[in-house]
Amino acid sequence: MTRFFLDTNILFKQRFVSELSRRCDACSHRICVSALVHMERVFQLRRQKGVDFDPAFVDSYIATHKIEIVAFDRDAADHVAKILGTEFPCDADWQLAKWLRCAQAVGQDRAPPASPRSPATLDWLIARHAAGDNIVIVSDDRGSEFPISVRRVGQEEALEIAALGEGETMIAIAMVNRKGGVGKTTLTLALADFLNAIHGFRILVVDMDPQSNASLTMLGEKRWVKCDQDCKTVADIFAEVQKNGSIPAGFGKALVISGIERVKGVSGTLSLIPCTPRLQQIEEELMEGDAAWRYVMGSPYFLLHAALSKDVFPSFDFVLIDCPPALGVATLNALTAANGYIMPTIADHVSTIGVSQLDGRIRDHSKGIRREIKRYGTIVNRFKSATILHRTILAEMRAKPEFQPVWDIIVPDTVKAEEAYAKHEEILTLRGRYGQESHIYFQALGQLAEEFIRRVS
Ligand SMILES: Nc1ncnc2c1ncn2[C@@H]1O[C@H](COP(=O)(O)OP(=O)(O)O)[C@@H](O)[C@H]1O
Ligand SMILES: [Mg+2]
Repeated sequence: MTRFFLDTNILFKQRFVSELSRRCDACSHRICVSALVHMERVFQLRRQKGVDFDPAFVDSYIATHKIEIVAFDRDAADHVAKILGTEFPCDADWQLAKWLRCAQAVGQDRAPPASPRSPATLDWLIARHAAGDNIVIVSDDRGSEFPISVRRVGQEEALEIAALGEGETMIAIAMVNRKGGVGKTTLTLALADFLNAIHGFRILVVDMDPQSNASLTMLGEKRWVKCDQDCKTVADIFAEVQKNGSIPAGFGKALVISGIERVKGVSGTLSLIPCTPRLQQIEEELMEGDAAWRYVMGSPYFLLHAALSKDVFPSFDFVLIDCPPALGVATLNALTAANGYIMPTIADHVSTIGVSQLDGRIRDHSKGIRREIKRYGTIVNRFKSATILHRTILAEMRAKPEFQPVWDIIVPDTVKAEEAYAKHEEILTLRGRYGQESHIYFQALGQLAEEFIRRVS
């Protein structure tokens, strides 16, 4: 996926933007502008056209062209500073002047942020670039505003690049381990948060675990119970097949809860299809007896795929499927619908037993459905570096084929992980949830998201 970052002036070249939008719509490319640039432009237009100029015009223009406005938040700026080992670009006066102009443009008289070095567009761009995200700045401006190695192109070239990517699609990953308590759910949520909030990817979490921890965490109890009562859960795909023998068009789409806000200041590109404890029973019933639906739908392992792969998944960059601790119907459905799987584990005996059988069964399933299920590797979680056992088992895992590749990032065992879980009802900044930037957990998850992009894309 390529992200086209439109410089201000380009945003208002309407013919170009329409054509670029059309080409981006045909694949998974995105167009974005920064809120900062956007507001400056509003300010300029307002000055040109007098006080009657309506900023809503710009908003509606951006909305109709499906352009994403990238908010600037401090997390991104700090992230850049870390990557570059510098605080670039942090010309305080420049930042302050820009900030004040923005505030003025929207007729607000707010105090500037505590540090005028407010995170700017460039910070965000560089962070993404450094993280391997594919960014192209579309700009006719030859000024020094884009000083480092981000790629800058003119309008013609942008259109060519956009056309090349047609047919690209999202990637769906199942988080699998037959053992519970290894961090499948915790890591699914953390990846969703970081990939969404820092890297701006559109993320769908599909909860396939009847324990429904991911659903409860993302929705809070009240909303989750409502979904269950309204039969708007992943289990209802299976229930529908059981009852009516097929899945009606649009059924999967209606299950998606979008615009979930978990990280402060990040506008809703996080979505969920929740689960319910009912899944357990429905699964069992589905496998029993002489079910008429089989004549229509075929294998019981294709139901999730049938409901979601075409209708729902393509609207996202990454789909993360949180699986139960078993290789039953739910997990096999997840594997059928996914491009591949990641295995989170703890580096202890109990969690790593039987992994070669698990791998073997997934290979068999892959043959059965005649499609590759990629092994994206093992994420070691809850690592206690002071424990000899953990270090020994980690070394063993690195030598065994069924764990390969073992990811470079090793996620430490820390109470912060449990605290993050416990604060699920609150909308916090990334740092509020996962620890200050210097915290080992925050750093580990930041690196985890980067490694995810590198290994999975
Ligand atoms: N890195 C970590 N450090 C400490 N505790 C963790 C860590 N990751 C997860 N946990 C805790 O482990 C427990 C099980 O995690 P969970 O994600 O529910 O596992 P699973 O989904 O594999 O069953 C949770 O209480 C969670 O807070
Ligand atoms: Mg879980």
